[in-house]
Formats: sequence, C-alpha cells, structure tokens
Amino acid sequence: MTRGFGIVGTGVIGAIHADAIALLPSARLAAVTDVDAVAAAAFAAARGCPAEPDLGALLARRDVDVVCVCVPSGLHAAIGIQVAEAGKHLVVEKPIDVSLEAADRLIDAARTAGVALTVISQHRFDPGLVELKRLLDDGTLGRLVLGEASTKWYRTQAYYDSAPWRGTYAMDGGSLMNQGVHYVDLLRWCMGPVAEVSAVCSTQAHQIEVEDTSLAVVRFVSGAVGTILSSTAAFPGFPQRLEITGTQGTVTVEDGRIAGRALTGEAAANPAPAADTGLSGAADPAAVDIASHAAQLADLLDAVDTGREPAVSGPDGRDALEIILAVYESSRTGRPARLRS
Ligand SMILES: NC(=O)c1ccc[n+]([C@@H]2O[C@H](COP(=O)([O-])OP(=O)(O)OC[C@H]3O[C@@H](n4cnc5c(N)ncnc54)[C@H](O)[C@@H]3O)[C@@H](O)[C@H]2O)c1
Repeated sequence: MTRGFGIVGTGVIGAIHADAIALLPSARLAAVTDVDAVAAAAFAAARGCPAEPDLGALLARRDVDVVCVCVPSGLHAAIGIQVAEAGKHLVVEKPIDVSLEAADRLIDAARTAGVALTVISQHRFDPGLVELKRLLDDGTLGRLVLGEASTKWYRTQAYYDSAPWRGTYAMDGGSLMNQGVHYVDLLRWCMGPVAEVSAVCSTQAHQIEVEDTSLAVVRFVSGAVGTILSSTAAFPGFPQRLEITGTQGTVTVEDGRIAGRALTGEAAANPAPAADTGLSGAADPAAVDIASHAAQLADLLDAVDTGREPAVSGPDGRDALEIILAVYESSRTGRPARLRS
C-alpha cells in the first residue's frame, strides 16, 4: 500500500525528507506547504507535486497520510498538534521542540488522535549504531561503565544569520539543542536514563543569544558515567563521535561507522575508514545522509502497518530534550541538575 506524505517547511531538511520519500517504494510525496509561498512553489515544481497555500489545505488532502514537520524547532509542537488533530501520522524533525511543555502537548495530541509519532534521530539507523546497539543488547560489552558523546562542528556566523530563527532560545536553542541532540539521543539509547548532569555552556565565537559550546558530565541511573560535548565553534569541524565502554571492552563510532572495537576475547580492530561520502555535517549543515532518514520513514510506515511504536518515539524525543534542558539548567545555576524521568 502506498502512503502519501506531506511536508510542512520546504527549507534545508524538507529537501532531505523529499529525497528520502522518493527512495521508498511504498511512499509518495503528495503535497508541500511553507509560509514562504515562493520557496514552496519552487520546491514543489522541482519535485512534481502541488504546493498548498497553507497547512489547513495540506491537511485537508485525503491523499496525505503522513506529514513531515520540517519547520523551525520551536514550532514543532504547534504545527504537529494540528497535524495529529487532522488524523495524520507524524514525522517530526529533531529536537521534538524546545520545551518539555511543548513536547508533552505534542505527545498527548498524537496519543489522543491515535496517530503514530516519530521524532527524527536518523543516526540510530546508521550501520555503526545498529552494530553497537546489537553488541550492547546481547551483553557483549558487559556492564556499562562510561559513555562519551562528542559533536565538535563548525558553523559560520553567516549560517546563524541565514534565517532569523537560528541561534535563538525561542525557536532553535544552541549547539547542543540543534547539532548535539543527535548524539545525546544515541548516548541515552545506548547508556539508558540519565540521573544527573553538571555542565558548563558558553558562547565563544558567534554573535548569538544561545550557547555555541557546551560540556557536561553525566551520571546515569545505572551508576555508569559519561560526558557530552557539543560545539559549533570547532573549526574545521570533526566527525561526530560516540564511545561506549563496558566491563568487556570499548566500541567507538564516528559519523555512524564503527571506528574502533576492542573487546575482551577478540583481537582489537580499527576498521579502515569507509570511503568519505562527503556526507558529514561537520562543516556543512546541508550534508545529511538520505539513507538513514529513509530508514526512519520506513520504520514509521511499518509501525503504522503493524500497530507498534516507532523505533524512535515521541517519548524518546522528549528524553533527549530533557537531558539538553538539564545541561542548560546546570550551566545557568552552577549546580548539578537532576532529571525526573
Ligand atoms: N535531522 C537532521 O539532520 C536535521 C538537519 C537540519 C535541520 N534539522 C531540523 O529541521 C528543522 C528545520 O531546519 P532547516 O535547516 O530545514 O530550516 P530552514 O530555515 O532551512 O527551513 C525551515 C522552513 O520552514 C518554513 N516555515 C517557518 N515557519 C513555518 C510555518 N509556520 N508554517 C510552514 N512553514 C514554515 C520556513 O519558511 C522555511 O522554509 C529544525 O528543527 C532543525 O533542527 C534536522
């Protein structure tokens, strides 16, 4: 059965969603909309689909079953709730929104309407993460000891100046909320719930109200410990890195691929780096690998067909947001911030 997709927000990531939809045999792009009618019309013309004048018109279409919410982060819940109330399934870009209140409203709206909600965390579908999660789930790594998530990226001031919502608290959040969120989600996925964070955030190299650099020490509920680092001030930009250590060894993932694996009982392996696809967001905000987005959309469709939760649920998106907001709180107060969930 072919499902019709709508896209709201035809900017940088809207294009990735359109390309991902085009990769799926069971999906087609039915229509798009954007408050910038000129941008929407050009996007629609390039993709051979109609541009609707507003969200209401997009949601009124019977051939739209799923809507990808690709607008600025602080609008995700406001738009997503309208999508849910129209009875359409939801793919919401990361972060789920920028406040827990907004995230909760969106999760409730999807539950009440009985529609599926997935929050994009496409790197869970990267080959290295799939392999690492398998090693964790089958116990190969042993008891968890230490988890490190690092996003040392570079964004120019021109990037922040390219749209009024970028670099604002209300619509974007800082480096950790926008860029670091991916590996925050992966860290929590691998290490489990976080009990407490102690953090320092600062704005080092940009004229923005939010932080461009954040550092946190994490205590997990399990007793394991970890670190989170995120920056958009680290020229020229480095691979995103996740390193998980258990009592039986360590696995390192860089940009979604296993970069190192040392496990007791097997020879240490540092696989040769895979061919550089040029698809690293280290310095280029538009360099997003379409395959992992497509895998997450396919997972959403399978979840709809089988009635299960999507692999990355609304509550998963909320968990990552809660960690990020705790990092911000700890930096603001100068004290450790405890998490509730
Ligand atoms: N998963 C990833 O790797 C990834 C990468 C980039 C961006 N993102 C996320 O995608 C979202 C958008 O980022 P972007 O870089 O594409 O931004 P962008 O500014 O390029 O595009 C946003 C679009 O939304 C439109 N818009 C704004 N308000 C709207 C409204 N009320 N109704 C309809 N359209 C509206 C804008 O006109 C613009 O075209 C952000 O939440 C960001 O965090 C995710």
